[in-house]
Amino acid sequence: MNKGNAGLVVVLTFVATLGGLLFGYDTAVISGAVGAIDHYFIDPQHLSQTLASSLSGWTISSALLGCVLGSAAAGWLSIRLGRKGGLIVAALMFLLGSIGSAVPEFGLGVIGQMGPAALTPFICYRILGGMGVGIASMISPLYIAEIAPSEIRGRLISFNQLAIVVGILLVYFVNWFIQSLGTPAWYLSSAWRLMLASEAVPALLFLTLLMFVPDTPRWFVMRGRNEEALKQLTRVNGEAAARGILADIERTLKVRSEHLFAFGMPVLAIGILLSVFQQLVGINAVLYYAPLMFQNMGASTNSAFLQTVVVGAANLVFTFVAIATVDRLGRKPLLVVGSVLMAVAMFALGVLFSAKAVGFGALVAVVAYIAGFALSWGPVVWVLLAEMFPNSIKGKAMAIAVAAQWVANLFVSWSFKVMDGSPWLNMHFNHGFAYWIYGTMSVLSAIFVLRYVPETKGRTLESIQELWHKHRKDAALASVQAAE
Ligand code: BGC
Repeated sequence: MNKGNAGLVVVLTFVATLGGLLFGYDTAVISGAVGAIDHYFIDPQHLSQTLASSLSGWTISSALLGCVLGSAAAGWLSIRLGRKGGLIVAALMFLLGSIGSAVPEFGLGVIGQMGPAALTPFICYRILGGMGVGIASMISPLYIAEIAPSEIRGRLISFNQLAIVVGILLVYFVNWFIQSLGTPAWYLSSAWRLMLASEAVPALLFLTLLMFVPDTPRWFVMRGRNEEALKQLTRVNGEAAARGILADIERTLKVRSEHLFAFGMPVLAIGILLSVFQQLVGINAVLYYAPLMFQNMGASTNSAFLQTVVVGAANLVFTFVAIATVDRLGRKPLLVVGSVLMAVAMFALGVLFSAKAVGFGALVAVVAYIAGFALSWGPVVWVLLAEMFPNSIKGKAMAIAVAAQWVANLFVSWSFKVMDGSPWLNMHFNHGFAYWIYGTMSVLSAIFVLRYVPETKGRTLESIQELWHKHRKDAALASVQAAE
């Protein structure tokens, strides 16, 4: 009898994680091009200092707006076009966004001569690429969750986080390499275009490989294509298990309507809060502004770059801890340990900044913070978001939670700059105020997990759905008892 095929799951997971790699690549590629972008699009406008820096800030972060839009649309896409179809749309957006932002003058004027006049198309292409990120950030983990056997589901989804981190580190080295190929004048005229265009390589690979993967069994059942679902389930889980899983999927899709609140508010609220807390603990303030932070600590530009690489490497290494333990220890213990580690590290950083004692100790605190995030909230939130929602509302509910995450991401990156630039806060906290906030958020995140998040380790997606049923019944019982 066919016993299933772990190799196939690994191959399919690999293809889906390219979406994660592009997520990391696209969000970080811009960091290498900032100087040249200012030089070409912003400086010739001779704006006031404030206007120029806010226009530059918007240009750099415009892709995040695309991420919000893309993730909000991803639920609909994943239902209408399928998980595979949604990922193909994302790959096309990565490709167009990358090439378009490298030569935004294309079809409009002479390349290299338009300057500020090409800023609007540049921003549009960045938003397009960001939409690819938003879509892939939701559908890649969803795809993996829906093809994975339950015993290794957490680990496989965590590989997507690994791919995000690899994407960030990879583009950092690609940018550094491209920059090293020519003179500073060449960097300003052409290198930045190559940096942005380099994303087309993984995008093309992603698009090509997607042509060969099937859609997920859960989506096939949603579309009434049960034969295909059974075939796919049999290839992955073996014949005996496949029939059982298929029956479960059919049952869970029939149980309730597709109405978003069919399972009550808590499931959606918990998903959104998990997603938002992943950002409120401040990860992207630390990642996006690591060089600035190290300079605030008094490091030279060069060693600030080196320390940024140390941060990236810590992010990578500690993601493996989650991969190794998430299916054995469970989701909740990892989240709580990570929150505690992040809280301690952030409070230590706050104290060190206030005491003007930044130096090696602060670097240790930052690395401890990154380690805490990488072994917990980084991967585990994606694991939970992809597995916690009941089948019939999964697409919509996950898209809402992920869109909320991107809004929170925008808010955190923007507000860090505001806090870091406030003379009053700096007088009292010496650039350390934000870290007190992130430490407090880490404490709140641990309390939230302990109180509200269910453990999903080892359960099939269908039996996770039963958890919310139970939740509802308990709540209904409690309200009846309260009324009596
Ligand atoms: C988060 C991103 C973050 C990345 C860094 C992801 O899980 O969603 O916002 O930049 O981890 O490792």
